[in-house]
Amino acid sequence: MPKPAPAIVCHAGSASNPAHVDGPTLACTRGLESIRDGLGALAGAVTATRSLEDDPRFNAGTGSNLRLDGETIQMDASCMTAGGEFGAVAAIERVKNPVEVAHLVLSTPHILLVGDGARTFARRRGFGDFDPTTQGARDRLEEVTAASVGLGEWTREDLERAWNFETPLREALGSDTVGSVTWDGEGFAGALSSGGTTTVLRGRVGDVPLPGCGLYVGEHGAVAATGDGEYIARALLAYRAYCELEGGRTPGQVVEWALDLLAVKVDVGLIVISRGGFAGGSRHGMAWHGQTMEAQS
Ligand code: GLY
Repeated sequence: MPKPAPAIVCHAGSASNPAHVDGPTLACTRGLESIRDGLGALAGAVTATRSLEDDPRFNAGTGSNLRLDGETIQMDASCMTAGGEFGAVAAIERVKNPVEVAHLVLSTPHILLVGDGARTFARRRGFGDFDPTTQGARDRLEEVTAASVGLGEWTREDLERAWNFETPLREALGSDTVGSVTWDGEGFAGALSSGGTTTVLRGRVGDVPLPGCGLYVGEHGAVAATGDGEYIARALLAYRAYCELEGGRTPGQVVEWALDLLAVKVDVGLIVISRGGFAGGSRHGMAWHGQTMEAQS
C-alpha cells in the first residue's frame, strides 16, 4: 500500500480565536517547506511551532502570558520523535524561541533543562537576550486579576456568566500552548511551546515539558495537547490519547475521547495525526489547520 503524503497539523492554542487561523496556516506552510527540503518530521514540527511563537497573538514566545507579578515571563517548550527522542525546557526566560532550545536539548544526554540552567545553555548555543513581553499580555493579566480578586475560585463558566468588561472574556483570558504534529512520509514528530496559563506563580511548570503529558509521539502517530496544564499532566493526556490511537480509534475519535475525559470546567484541546489522517478540536474554540503536501503542491 502506498504511504500517505507528508502532512502537518498546527494549532494556536486552546481558546485561541478561530478567526486567527492564518497563523496556524502559515505555520503549516513553513513546516511543510522544511519537510519538502528533506529536513524531516522533527524539523517540520519545530519550524512550524517557531512560526507560532513569533506571532504575538498567541501565548508562546513573543506574546507569552505574564506571571502574577506582572513582570516575569517563563516559558515551556518540548519536542519529540516517534523514536522516543525527547527534548524540553521549562520556566526559561528571555529567549525568543524556546522550542529551538528544546530542539537542542534533544541532542544532549538530557531530556529537560529548567530555569537559569536552560537560559545559560541557550546563551552558550547562541540565543541572544530577548524580552517577549507584549502589551496584549499586560492587558490580559490586568483584566483577569481585576475580575478574580476577592471572588474565590472561579471556573471559566462562572466568569463567562458574570463577565462585564468590554474586552470579550476570550481575549482577556487569552489562549494556551501552541503546537504542531507532523508526518514526513516515514515517521511522526511533534513540538509544543507555551507561556503557561494566566495567574500562575514564578517557577510553575505546566504539562508541556513533561513527557506524555502535553506531547506524545510513537510509530502510530502524534498527539499534542493544549489547555490547563495541571489537569492535562495529572491525566497523562497525550500518552493516553496516543494509546487510544494505537488501539484503533481514528484521530477524530481520539479528540472526542480526550475532550470527554476531563471535567467540563477544564480548558483543553488536542491535535492528532496518524497515517489515516488528522483532526483537532477544543472545548473553547481553537484556531487550527491541517494540510498535506499533495494539497499544498
Ligand atoms: N498547557 C500549558 C500550561 O498549562 O502551561
